[in-house]
Amino acid sequence: MTEFARRVTQISISGIREVFEAAGEDAINLGLGQPDFPTPAHIREAAIEAIESGAVDGYTSNQGILECREALVERYDHEYDINLDPGDAILTSGASEALHLVLEAHVDPGQEVIFPDPGFVSYEALTHLASGTPKPVGLRDDLTLDPAAVEAAITDDTAVFVVNSPGNPTGAVQSPEDMREFARIADEHDVLCLSDEVYEHMVFEGEHRSPLEFATTDNVVVVSGCSKTYSMTGWRLGWVVGSTRRIDHMLRVHQYAQACASAPAQYAAKAALSGPQEPVAEMAASFQERRDIVVDGLEDAGLSVPKPKGAFYAMPKVPAGWCEEVIDRGVVVVPGEAFGANGAGYARLSYATGVEELKEALEIMAAAMKAVS
Ligand SMILES: Cc1ncc(COP(=O)(O)O)c(C=O)c1O
Repeated sequence: MTEFARRVTQISISGIREVFEAAGEDAINLGLGQPDFPTPAHIREAAIEAIESGAVDGYTSNQGILECREALVERYDHEYDINLDPGDAILTSGASEALHLVLEAHVDPGQEVIFPDPGFVSYEALTHLASGTPKPVGLRDDLTLDPAAVEAAITDDTAVFVVNSPGNPTGAVQSPEDMREFARIADEHDVLCLSDEVYEHMVFEGEHRSPLEFATTDNVVVVSGCSKTYSMTGWRLGWVVGSTRRIDHMLRVHQYAQACASAPAQYAAKAALSGPQEPVAEMAASFQERRDIVVDGLEDAGLSVPKPKGAFYAMPKVPAGWCEEVIDRGVVVVPGEAFGANGAGYARLSYATGVEELKEALEIMAAAMKAVS
């Protein structure tokens, strides 16, 4: 009888889904990790045009259409002064696939992958899928990842360490000094740094810098995508950029698992990357406004919350029973332990939802706080 592979039995469906299922139909959902804006019109139109022209009827090149990769490398040059060749990028089915490619191409069975705890749920699961060994590392009090903690966790068996700024589930933004340190660690220890930068354009305080700007070797690869920046989670378009030899090895996985990213989404991404960026700034401004409402509301309710400086999540410290109480009262929040053992005692709220709903949810959270204190 065929049983299931160990690398799959080691992982389970994300704890986030269980929370959604426990909540009633009318619940206010602060559990979703996606912007609540429509995809900007010019991006949708570019996809429609590409579909109508017939350009998307066939496979594209495995790496993705050249014009989209050209727009991508131009953006890295313009925004970060990082010089890449269009050959140094693979367009993927969301950043999710890009994370998978990085780990599949670089982790041998039993090798260790270091990642933040609490951290995005995919890092541990994808490590198991690559038959690697997860090495979660705790965070500072402000929920940023300390480069010294990463350096201390590195062993001879470490293949990759993951940096995610702005962070999910924390909303924390690493300082430029930290990013420089991560690059140094990747260079000096000859270990790959996987920098997950999907929230790169959602920064309210501080500044987003990439370890790729600082590395002197090719030991940094960057994953990002259109999902969060352009409100395109359903389009499934992300990318990985890195040195030619690393891209070459990741392409071997992508070629057989995916062939190419969805062609209409590639044309949409080209329009997103090369078109007007005002919609991005508008979304970021709106998230910042909501961040302030949420942080004030949580503090007024007596909760302590490290101030999130980016993305659209807040991670307050919560007393025992608070999450269950809030969910029972019709607001979906995700218990922190869904993001790793060190998430216990926290909850993640996504504030990518309407202001009126947020205010209502904050009242319910305050009432729940009284009920469990
Ligand atoms: C930190 C982080 N990385 C990657 C992803 C995956 O994004 P995509 O929709 O591009 O697959 C997410 C989605 O929530 C995320 O929060």
